[in-house]
Amino acid sequence: MPPPPPLTAAITLAPLLLFLLLARPTVSWRPWPNAQPNSTDFLYGGSKKYEGSSEFVHLKYHMGPVLTANITVYPIWYGRWQSSQKRIIREFIASISAVDSKPPSVSGWWKTVQLYTDQTGANISRTVHVGEQKNDRFYSHGKSLTRLSVQSVIKSAVTASTRPLPINPKSGVYLLLTSDDVYVQDFCNNICGFHYFTFPSIVGYTLPYAWVGNSAKLCPGVCAYPFAVPDYIPGLKAVKSPNGDVGVDGMISVIAHEIAELSTNPLVNAWYAGQDPVFPVEIADLCEGIYGTGGGGSYTGQMLNGKDGATYNMNGIRRRFLVQWLKPARTVPLSDGWAGLLVMPRASPLGAKLLALDKKHSEVQLLCWLNKRRLRAGEGRTPKPTDTSMSVSLGNMSLFP
Ligand SMILES: *[C@@H]1O[C@H](CO)[C@@H](O)[C@H](O)[C@H]1NC(C)=O
Ligand SMILES: *[C@@H]1O[C@H](CO)[C@@H](O)[C@H](O)[C@H]1NC(C)=O
Ligand SMILES: *[C@@H]1O[C@H](CO)[C@@H](O)[C@H](O)[C@H]1NC(C)=O
Ligand SMILES: *[C@@H]1O[C@H](CO)[C@@H](O)[C@H](O)[C@H]1NC(C)=O
Repeated sequence: MPPPPPLTAAITLAPLLLFLLLARPTVSWRPWPNAQPNSTDFLYGGSKKYEGSSEFVHLKYHMGPVLTANITVYPIWYGRWQSSQKRIIREFIASISAVDSKPPSVSGWWKTVQLYTDQTGANISRTVHVGEQKNDRFYSHGKSLTRLSVQSVIKSAVTASTRPLPINPKSGVYLLLTSDDVYVQDFCNNICGFHYFTFPSIVGYTLPYAWVGNSAKLCPGVCAYPFAVPDYIPGLKAVKSPNGDVGVDGMISVIAHEIAELSTNPLVNAWYAGQDPVFPVEIADLCEGIYGTGGGGSYTGQMLNGKDGATYNMNGIRRRFLVQWLKPARTVPLSDGWAGLLVMPRASPLGAKLLALDKKHSEVQLLCWLNKRRLRAGEGRTPKPTDTSMSVSLGNMSLFP
């Protein structure tokens, strides 16, 4: 038996890990049950626990490969899935390359991922297809999976006697999706999904893969937050999910998180921060829980509200989704046409001070990004006629007007 794969890449206990790694507070947030020592910290996290900024966290390139060729995602549907649920997830993945979606769009979000390159200067692929799919309706490895048995499920899918999934180590992403009655090691306690690569000794190949679970029955308040809220944090209110399925709508951001990280760090030797590859901090980790301008701590940031009352932040093919923001590849001058989020406690004096400093230097390291125009359009803010410079909002406070 090989050693158990390390806890990587996951939507991990990022706040704690980052704190250890960087000895500074972080903005990444989910209502994890075991990070619950004092629930008032959650509510006021934005002004207390997260004071300071992780704007100086630099992702480093460690010379490994990234996914530069057209990416194909192979879904493995483990357990019982309704076809309507599968459709939401497939359409989300297909939306990544749907460049004609109305802004702010999923394809606009993916542009942040495309900014990452390998050592030859090749960018992450613009194209992400949904490939062949595999059903594992009868729970081939039971209703409780470990990190290692997840690899065995993938092995079954690529070695099945009928219609096995193709072997595509260079641009394939194997996406194991477990139904709401399946428990996976550490699910709900500190992860909602994770990514890694398969071991040749188990699967026969080194294949980048991710697992994401449907939390609808086990812990929607954690992994489908903010479409559900945990009852141990008073004062948080759930918002309406855009596709009418709390578990699946909550999975979307986790799937997005894992695909973004797999693309930039498929073998866990490419883009990450921190000294320890066992606990890499990757492009989605820093911005977990941030869906809009001003986000940080338990505050999601400004999101969009549909006429039907649903909450979302981007458009895809025929649907709307709520997807977390990502860490950009580099510092970009203000004139670059990008906008983003400087994560700061809302309207705190510290935030104002740092921004003043940044303004003087006319450059700002932004943490979580969206294309500026899309952001504007999406948030329904009125663009100012001469607004060519960067605009950064802290909650309701808009700077660089
Ligand atoms: C939670 O934190 C507040 C303020 O920091 C403190 O007054 C309170 O005693 C703490 N509660 C617990 C259960 O630790
Ligand atoms: C990659 O995808 C694009 C868009 O779907 C397509 O035009 C192109 O032919 C693909 N390239 C390869 C090598 O398959
Ligand atoms: C590729 O990455 C470089 C470096 O981040 C960036 O300047 C360029 O715009 C990227 N190209 C695309 C198509 O995203
Ligand atoms: C946000 O800004 C508007 C207009 O400047 C103001 O009326 C409103 O009170 C502000 N809201 C908050 C929460 O600060």
